[in-house]
Amino acid sequence: MKLWGGRFTKPTNQLVDEYTASISFDKKLATYDIEGSLAHVAMLKACKIIPAADADKIAEGLQIVLKKIEAGEAELSEEHEDIHMNVEKLLIEEVGAVGGKLHTGRSRNDQVALDMRLYLRDAIGTVIQQLIDVEKALISQAKANLDTVMPGYTHLQRAQPVLFAHHMMAYVFMFQRDMERLTDSLKRVNKSPLGAGALAGTTFPIDRQFVADKLGFDGICENSLDAVSDRDFVVEFLSNASLIAMHLSRLCEELVQWSSAEFNFIELDDSFTTGSSMMPQKKNPDVAELVRGKTGRVYGHLMGMLTTLKGLPLAYNKDMQEDKEGMFDTFETLKGALALFAPMIETMQVKQENMYQAVTNDFSNATDLADYLVGKGMPFRESHAVVGQVVLACINNGKYLLDLTLDEFQSYSALIEGDIFDVLKPETVVNARDVAGGTARKSVEVQIEQALAVMEEL
Ligand code: ARG
Repeated sequence: MKLWGGRFTKPTNQLVDEYTASISFDKKLATYDIEGSLAHVAMLKACKIIPAADADKIAEGLQIVLKKIEAGEAELSEEHEDIHMNVEKLLIEEVGAVGGKLHTGRSRNDQVALDMRLYLRDAIGTVIQQLIDVEKALISQAKANLDTVMPGYTHLQRAQPVLFAHHMMAYVFMFQRDMERLTDSLKRVNKSPLGAGALAGTTFPIDRQFVADKLGFDGICENSLDAVSDRDFVVEFLSNASLIAMHLSRLCEELVQWSSAEFNFIELDDSFTTGSSMMPQKKNPDVAELVRGKTGRVYGHLMGMLTTLKGLPLAYNKDMQEDKEGMFDTFETLKGALALFAPMIETMQVKQENMYQAVTNDFSNATDLADYLVGKGMPFRESHAVVGQVVLACINNGKYLLDLTLDEFQSYSALIEGDIFDVLKPETVVNARDVAGGTARKSVEVQIEQALAVMEEL
C-alpha cells in the first residue's frame, strides 16, 4: 500500500512507478533527508505538536534507519518513489504507526527543497576547499618561476614576453572569483524552506526558526510558494560550476598545448599522464583533455535546469524532480577534476630553458623597440611603422632584433643608441612592465601577496 494510497481504487501501473520514481538517484540525499527530519521532529516536540515520547521514538527510529541506509542494509524501493517516502516507510517499519506522525506539518515539497539546499551547502564547501588547493598549487609554481620568461600570446601568436609566474597567477585570480561567487551564493542557498508545506504553509503552530537554527541556516525562506517552487539556487550553482569548468578547461588546453613537441614548455608528471595502446612513445595529457571535455556536460546541466524551470507555473511541479541528477553530476564532475588538478599542477615540470629559447627566437620585443623610440621623442604611430620595417627586414634576412648591429639599427633611426641591446633583452622587456598587475617580477610578487591575503581571509 502506497503512503498516499487512500483515495486510489487501483494499484499504480508498474511502468508509472518506474517512470516517476527518483529513488535510484535521490538516495544520495538520504543523510540530509534524515538530518532534516530529525530537526523537524525536534521542533514538533518543542512546540508540543506531537507528544514528547512519540517524538523521541521517531528520532531514535530515524537514527536506526540512517545507520541501516549507510550500511546498505535498508531496502529502498521504486514502489515508494523517492528517498522521502522510503525513509518514512522504513521508519514506520522500525517504530510502528507512531512513525506516521513525522510528516505532521510538512510536505515532500518543502522537504525536497530542504534536502537540495543541505546537499548544495556541503557541495559548495567542498568545491571551495578544492579550489583553494588548486590555487595553492598554482601559486607554488608561480613562486618557483618568478624568473621564468615565456612568450605571451595574443591570437596564439607570440606577442610580448611574460613571466610564467604571471601566467599562473592569471588563473589564480580566476579561481578566486569563482570562490567568491560560490561564497556569495551561500547567502541564498543557506535559507530554510521547511514550513512552507506543500505550497501554502501549515495550520500547525510550527517554529520555522527553530528548525532553521538547528540545521545551521542563516534564515528562513520568506514566502512559502517561492520556497517550494524555485530552484534558482541550483541554477546558480550550475552557473558557478560552469565558470569553474570553463576556467579549468582553458588551463587544460594550455597544458595540452605546452606538453606538445611543438611547444615543449612543460612536462606533466608520469603519474598524471597515460600511454597509447599502439604507439610505444606516446605520453598523453589525458587528464587535462578529459577535464576540458567534461566541461560540456557541466554546461549541459545548466541549460537543462534552466529549460526545465522555464514556464513552470507555481508552485511545485513534478518536472522539478529533474533538478537532481544534473546537480549531483556537476558536483561529482567538478570534484573529480579539482582533486586531480592540484597535484597535476604541483608535479608539472616547467622547461624554463625552452621557454627562454622561444622568447629569444622571436619578435616579442618589437613593442619595446617602438616604445624606446617614443621615449626619444618619436610619435608612437611613427615608431610603430619604423619598427615594422625593421621586423620585415629581419624576417627577410633570417634575423631577430638582437642580431642587428648598432649601425643597422641606426640606419632605421638615428635616435637608437647602444643601450638598445639591453632594452630588448627578454628580462628587461618583462621587468619594464612594472605597472600594477603587470608582468615585471615585482608586480607579480605583489599579485602573489594579494592572492595569499585573500586566501588567508577565508
Ligand atoms: N521526488 C520528488 C522530487 O524530487 C519529491 C517531491 C515530490 N512531491 C510531490 N508532491 N510529488 O521532486
